[in-house]
Amino acid sequence: MTSRTVKFALLLLALVCCFLVPTSHSQRTSNVEQRVNSLLAQMTLAEKLGQLQQLDGEANGNYRPEHLDLIRKGLLGSTINVRGAQRTNQLQRVAMNESRLKIPALFGFDAIHGYRTIFPIPLGEASSFDPSLGERSAAVAAQETNNVGVRWTFAPMVDIARDPRWGRISEGSGEDPFLGAAFARARVRGFQGNDYGAPDKILACAKHWVAYGAAEGGRDYNTTDLSEQTLREIYFPPFKAAVDAGVGTLMSSFNAINGVPASANAFTLTKVLRDEWKFDGFVVSDYTSVKELINHGIAANEEDAAAAALNAGVDMEMVSRSYNTFGPKLIQQKRLSTATLDEAVRRVLRIKFRLGLFDRPYTDEAREANALLRPESLRLAREIAGRSMVLLKNDRETLPLGKNLGSIAVIGPLADDRRAPLGWWSGDGKEENTVTPLAGIKTKVSAQTKVGYAKGCEVKGDSTAGFEEAVNLAKSSDVAVVFVGELAEMVGEAASHASLDLPGRQLELVQAIHATGKPTIVVLVNGRPLSIGWIVDNTPAILESWMGGTESGDAIADILFGDVNPGAKLPVTFPRTVGQVPIYYNHMNTGRPPEAENRYTSKYYDVPWTPLFPFGYGLSYTTFKISNLQLSAPRISVNGKLTVSAEVENTGRRAGDEVVQLYIRDTVASMTRPVKELKGFQRVTLQPGEKRRVEFVLGPEHLGFWNREMRYVVEPGEFRIMVGANSVDVIETKFEVTPN
Ligand code: NOJ
Repeated sequence: MTSRTVKFALLLLALVCCFLVPTSHSQRTSNVEQRVNSLLAQMTLAEKLGQLQQLDGEANGNYRPEHLDLIRKGLLGSTINVRGAQRTNQLQRVAMNESRLKIPALFGFDAIHGYRTIFPIPLGEASSFDPSLGERSAAVAAQETNNVGVRWTFAPMVDIARDPRWGRISEGSGEDPFLGAAFARARVRGFQGNDYGAPDKILACAKHWVAYGAAEGGRDYNTTDLSEQTLREIYFPPFKAAVDAGVGTLMSSFNAINGVPASANAFTLTKVLRDEWKFDGFVVSDYTSVKELINHGIAANEEDAAAAALNAGVDMEMVSRSYNTFGPKLIQQKRLSTATLDEAVRRVLRIKFRLGLFDRPYTDEAREANALLRPESLRLAREIAGRSMVLLKNDRETLPLGKNLGSIAVIGPLADDRRAPLGWWSGDGKEENTVTPLAGIKTKVSAQTKVGYAKGCEVKGDSTAGFEEAVNLAKSSDVAVVFVGELAEMVGEAASHASLDLPGRQLELVQAIHATGKPTIVVLVNGRPLSIGWIVDNTPAILESWMGGTESGDAIADILFGDVNPGAKLPVTFPRTVGQVPIYYNHMNTGRPPEAENRYTSKYYDVPWTPLFPFGYGLSYTTFKISNLQLSAPRISVNGKLTVSAEVENTGRRAGDEVVQLYIRDTVASMTRPVKELKGFQRVTLQPGEKRRVEFVLGPEHLGFWNREMRYVVEPGEFRIMVGANSVDVIETKFEVTPN
């Protein structure tokens, strides 16, 4: 080979390499930043404000006529609720072909626990104590949503909720920040993957930032007043986990926090989110929460509201139009700087670039039909529902039922209801696709088994006219399964309750069926802890099915007849009565912890201080023993790591799942510390007689807290370690943290 040929070959190789070597992350980032800045440099003030505007489509998914014109003029950056590949493409074509700068629109929608294939409500899914399920269900939701032209979901909802009166407790992962963080992380990964611009992935939105679940009295949208320690230790962790998992957006909440509305709160929106956590995506307001700053009384008019929200760090305004209407005046009056405005626009554009919207603005209309309710999605929905249902009671092995019983009475207002299992946020789920419990039971039993059905009563209302028929059916059957609980409309947004009792005449229905003397199994279909003391005291078996989604009925039947052995646990405390609320496992000890014999201790005169069911509680058709708790060392330094392990053994006759839970307590510290804090959990499947050692690693991130100076510290001293099958039944030991 001549030297010229060698040189030529090398050159060729170098060129090929250039094309083959993938662009690095930092290259891609700087490309995006360059594209954002060059676009920003071309934008008029009106176009910039347009990118910060999100407007609502019609409930059925249509866009509104004005959207066409606004997008054409570059005055609308995003919509909510517009969906369907054809409709989103129509709007997008206007953006890409007719607007001056050809900035694609971003279509958002609430696919909270599924788009068409509906999964259990998030509170139910969290009961699985298996975050990988949260990832898998979110991945299906992303795939379906992406294929109907929507590239952004307002999920995951990661609000901690300690108050079951609050209807939105159903949308989150319950009361615990550690469990909540695990599900937040998993769901973000499920929606976004490593790259939300990838096919079948979408942009996620962690909401509602922040402390929305702390609403006083459990009344939705209500004020919250919390210490910064409580914010940082209880309410922030799931959001931090979402940010660390790469979530692209957050939604600012409706509530005020310590006197400053969350949608105008520079502390949460800028100091914590941007300065401390380095979040570089964008924040969208909640629905009209910018304009509502007037009602909060911190803005005299929309002009003030826009200034307060934008300056605090809310980048995009959902539905109200204060930014667009008053932005120019605010700039002119110097109440809003161009730098602040540009930064908000930059954040929105950055996400649009990362999402690949500029390069791939349209959705393939031909794929839409095949994208929904795929058999594998339905199978997953059934699996997750089965793994999310909590067995609350099972005396004398009432469950599982035999498939060849002579007759079963299926009773109750929710036995054949197609709407309730879909929950309040049912995406684009269709009732006709729901498998009801009655249908699930009918498919499961043998051909000889007679399945009778009587509604008995409605969920709401006062009529007992149907009781007689239901009682007669129970009398003539071998066993009765009664489905009671809540309607979809009774949970979710704006569905706060002052009572946690079963609504309407449902308890009396259960009592009437129980009075027949037939074994009465109660299945709850609901979205919040309910005070069901009578049922717990009197009926032999109770299954908490939550609102289990499209495949709920099949999943319930899988459990009732033993094809699935329940292994889920409560992610939230069940109170005996609403008067105990707020009641949560990770409370402080007080100076006078409850003692039965001592009047002057922290308890109630009229009801026990203990819950009906504690956090982490749930039974199985088999039994487990947790024993032999071991630590890798008797002491560690403040920066050290400790391995905690315990043995778990299936001591029963069936294969089953146990969730081994690890709790800690910092015995003496410079601030009061909770009596227990969950710091690890593992759901394990064991065959009868099988024994396994489960390990957890604890480090400074588990052992510290925010001290009086608002510094995160691990303080030397004694820690208690507790391991168990729920937050009450634990075995324990101690270890020491030393200064170094
Ligand atoms: C209000 C709700 O609070 C929020 O969760 C939801 O994403 C928006 N509406 C949009 O539907």
